[in-house]
Amino acid sequence: MRRSVVAGCGAYLPERVVTNDELATRIDTSDEWISQRTGIRQRHIAADGELTSDLALAAARQALANAGIEGADLDIIVLATATPDNTFPATATKVQADLGNKAGAAFDVQAVCTGFIYALAMADNMLRLGQASTALVIGAEVFSRILDWDDRSTCVLFGDGAGAVVLKAGEGAGTNRDRGVLSTHLHSDGANYKALYVDGGPGSTGTAGFIRMAGREVYKQAVVRMAECVEHALDANGLEHGDVDWLVPHQANLRIIESTGRKLDIPMERVIVTVDRQANTSAATIPLALAEATADKRVREGQLVALTAMGGGFTWGSALIRW
Ligand code: ACO
Repeated sequence: MRRSVVAGCGAYLPERVVTNDELATRIDTSDEWISQRTGIRQRHIAADGELTSDLALAAARQALANAGIEGADLDIIVLATATPDNTFPATATKVQADLGNKAGAAFDVQAVCTGFIYALAMADNMLRLGQASTALVIGAEVFSRILDWDDRSTCVLFGDGAGAVVLKAGEGAGTNRDRGVLSTHLHSDGANYKALYVDGGPGSTGTAGFIRMAGREVYKQAVVRMAECVEHALDANGLEHGDVDWLVPHQANLRIIESTGRKLDIPMERVIVTVDRQANTSAATIPLALAEATADKRVREGQLVALTAMGGGFTWGSALIRW
């Protein structure tokens, strides 16, 4: 049976770090309010002129180096982003050109904070079907450009960054002990469109717009959905909570992460957390967390890794990976 095996991870965070204290010099907020409510202490912010494609490329290069694969040899490049460089073409095609790839196909996926899991599902399905053998899956965002820096209820929550994962098709017996992506599970409910959205956009509205959010509603749904879809993934693979070595949840808010862990009976020692240092980088949080946890050898071959995310739309989803 064909499966998508993780061959390498990479990350990139812009150099500039903005602490809560620095934000408090510009807007009516405090380190205490932000850290108590969200667990966020700082975020990275892209430099003037630094684009989503620049962040994506840096993360991609590191992932390819770790996988020992040349950019030219990729069959597909899937980039999850809600902050593309331009309305079109896909930002993934810019990354493709910069990687010197001509033979593959590159496209963007838009599912906001669930974007990386959607992109992983697209790539995994193409690898399973034999349409591709090597894939680069990237989550990259420059959310700082769509923040209303006068709106303290949203601007303190987000940061910029990119993470990338290289997948290679592998053959195995297809059991839940064999390496690779075991399954992906995608959901959306557009009835919640206006609970978290950007009030403009490069497409049909003609204005860039800013993030608008019903914070409490997002919070309530996130804790339910993120845990629920990990349950589905475990059931689908004949696995239990105790089998999960690492939970890698979307990093929006430490309280959402802790509550998801509690619902799944997974202690915080087995949950990867980056939100304190990176804030919410939307589609980039999960691959950034994976890059960190593989670099420091917490996540190792043979372990079971559960990914889960929820974001605008609402969209939500999960994936189980035998590393
Ligand atoms: N600093 C100081 N005070 C603030 C700030 C701030 N940055 N932001 C809001 N406040 C004030 C509000 O004005 C309000 O004041 P009032 O009582 O005088 O009216 C008070 O704090 C409470 O505001 P609430 O919005 O009710 O605060 P809440 O406890 O709900 O926390 C938060 C807000 C942190 C946004 C929370 O709802 C949350 O985490 N929601 C999830 C949202 C999220 O993470 N979204 C990310 C994208 S979606 C995703 O990734 C899953």
